[in-house]
Amino acid sequence: MTRILVIGAAGNTGRPIAEGLTAEGFTVRTATRDTRPPVAAAAEHVRFDWADPSTHAAALEGVDRMYVLAPGLVEDPSTLMIPVLERALAGGVRRVVLLSASAVAEGGPGLGQVHHFLRTHAPEWSVLQPSWFMQNFISPVHHHHAGLQRDGVLVTATGHGRVGFVDAGDIAAVGVRALADAASHDTAHVITGPQALGYDDVAAILSRVTGRPVRHVHATPEEAQRHLQATGMPEAYARFLTLLDTSIRDGAEDRVTDTVLRVTGRAPRDFESFARAQGNLWH
Ligand SMILES: NC(=O)c1ccc[n+]([C@@H]2O[C@H](COP(=O)([O-])OP(=O)(O)OC[C@H]3O[C@@H](n4cnc5c(N)ncnc54)[C@H](OP(=O)(O)O)[C@@H]3O)[C@@H](O)[C@H]2O)c1
Repeated sequence: MTRILVIGAAGNTGRPIAEGLTAEGFTVRTATRDTRPPVAAAAEHVRFDWADPSTHAAALEGVDRMYVLAPGLVEDPSTLMIPVLERALAGGVRRVVLLSASAVAEGGPGLGQVHHFLRTHAPEWSVLQPSWFMQNFISPVHHHHAGLQRDGVLVTATGHGRVGFVDAGDIAAVGVRALADAASHDTAHVITGPQALGYDDVAAILSRVTGRPVRHVHATPEEAQRHLQATGMPEAYARFLTLLDTSIRDGAEDRVTDTVLRVTGRAPRDFESFARAQGNLWH
């Protein structure tokens, strides 16, 4: 029986991955920083914190494959993640699937180091490199939430740059195949939705769907960073996100890929369908 550890199992991708693998008959061990299991049907649950080594042994015991994503708001997650992954591989884990991002190249800082480590050390591996999540516009913990809810504004330094926004459910569907398929994919999957949209387009769709005016404020990088810090975000992380905004402005995310259709056999969801399916946004 293959046992699969799913880290971040209460999150946007971890939860549907844990549910999907459980439905396919795998023994799924969910891991979160909470003692309460997030997925009732999953076989096992452990408390796991990248930053708390006392939680690592029980999480890794008897595991064959694992899904990993970074600890939140950490500038360089590789220093916490690579020692745990070394321990996992030494203990018999064969396959690791990492959630990285389209904006992070293999070998680059942070998750780029983890990507490189897995490609060169794990017997079986895949790296999910999604573009920006559609969930960013609805999640109550995302930095866009307060501005959308309070003032109907999206503040970015992305200008007219476009992004292949993707539903986290479609990312998870690719992740389920990377974890479940008998043959490991051993590749990096760049994952997008079906269209590249600017934040002006997103604002127009959100206005249409909610019946409430939503506006994209074209901020300078300095204004965007100040706006992020005003939400309580640490300065270094706000600087990093602003840098990503300017790379979107310069065209880095203006692409769509066929990964979701090719790997899962079904087309990815478009942004308007996603927004309509949410019901009452920002309440
Ligand atoms: N949002 C985007 O547009 C986007 C785009 C590309 C890539 N990504 C990648 O997606 C990841 C975040 O996804 P998300 O925004 O959808 O968030 P999410 O998966 O819904 O939530 C973050 C998860 O990380 C877990 N976590 C945070 N700190 C942890 C720690 N110290 N130890 C163990 N688990 C920890 C949390 O688990 P608990 O249940 O324990 O709190 C939570 O489940 C990031 O790695 C990011 O690079 C995001």
